Amino acid sequence: MEKYNGKYKTYLDMFECALKKAVNGVTHRKSNLLSDAVNYAVLGGGKRVRPILCLATADLLGVDVSVAVDYAVTVEMIHTYSLVHDDLPSMDNDDYRRGKLSTHKKYGEALGILAGDGLLTLASENVLSAISRNAGKIDPLRAVKAAKTIFECAGVNGMVGGQAVDLNPGSYTENALPNELLNYIIENKTAKMIQAPILVASILSGDKYYDELKDFGRNLGFLFQITDDILDEESNFAELGKTCGKDKKDNKLTSVSVYGLNGAKELATEYYKSCKDILIKIDDKGFLTDFIETIYKRKH
Ligand code: IPE
Ligand code: IPE
Ligand code: MG
Ligand code: MG
Ligand code: MG
Repeated sequence: MEKYNGKYKTYLDMFECALKKAVNGVTHRKSNLLSDAVNYAVLGGGKRVRPILCLATADLLGVDVSVAVDYAVTVEMIHTYSLVHDDLPSMDNDDYRRGKLSTHKKYGEALGILAGDGLLTLASENVLSAISRNAGKIDPLRAVKAAKTIFECAGVNGMVGGQAVDLNPGSYTENALPNELLNYIIENKTAKMIQAPILVASILSGDKYYDELKDFGRNLGFLFQITDDILDEESNFAELGKTCGKDKKDNKLTSVSVYGLNGAKELATEYYKSCKDILIKIDDKGFLTDFIETIYKRKH
């Protein structure tokens, strides 16, 4: 466990340092409310699950983590923008995020939208500079493929597409049973952005274990969203840092509404076991196995 904690801290510190540098590089130029809103949204808070997955997978596959960290930063910027927009009144209308007021509650709706836009744009800038900066360390074609994967996972056929159906399940044009619709939503709104940082690591390594890691990321994404749905039902603000009980109140289609609380817990266990099995196949040295256990057992 000591070894786990040490590695976790190394990855987290490395990530936070790179993130701060990337954000400050832009926002320090002019102090204004938009810069403040961007800083407020992305610095100081968040579990940083996706960056840790990126760095740990890179480490396991022998990729230089100082290269992978640029991609971890890009993924977290996109993830954070998705949360800022997810909380807007026209979306989930949530007043709290990461234990404090959501960005639009603190800075107003227009700056909430623009802070999200700013983070998404900064994510692109960041990954493009990384491709040229790391040209001596990593084949630029591979670097471009890794960047493209992130944007595919984030876009209309990924996170954004999943959010659209989450907000309006009736907009899904095919006939689908509730569980099929739910699978579409989870796969896109959450699993793709969990898969992205893991696939980036594989691509940077020259596609090592690509298919296995794709499967791992998908299963972990489902585990992650199912635990999010369970916590919305069972947790409280002090522990979770966001308003609980909202999914039920808003009649959301979630793993709890479709399978019931116990059904959702059983499903989470199944996804957790599948993740563990894949890690055995790819010869994980222990960190990822311990890390996914913390996701399975998470309380926030
Ligand atoms: C919340 O993601 C949104 C979901 C996909 C469920 P996280 O639970 O990773 O949020 P932060 O980054 O820790 O705030
Ligand atoms: C959001 O799912 C997934 C995103 C892409 C932002 P939720 O709406 O369930 O996330 P929380 O519960 O607000 O964090
Ligand atoms: Mg939502
Ligand atoms: Mg939400
Ligand atoms: Mg939720």
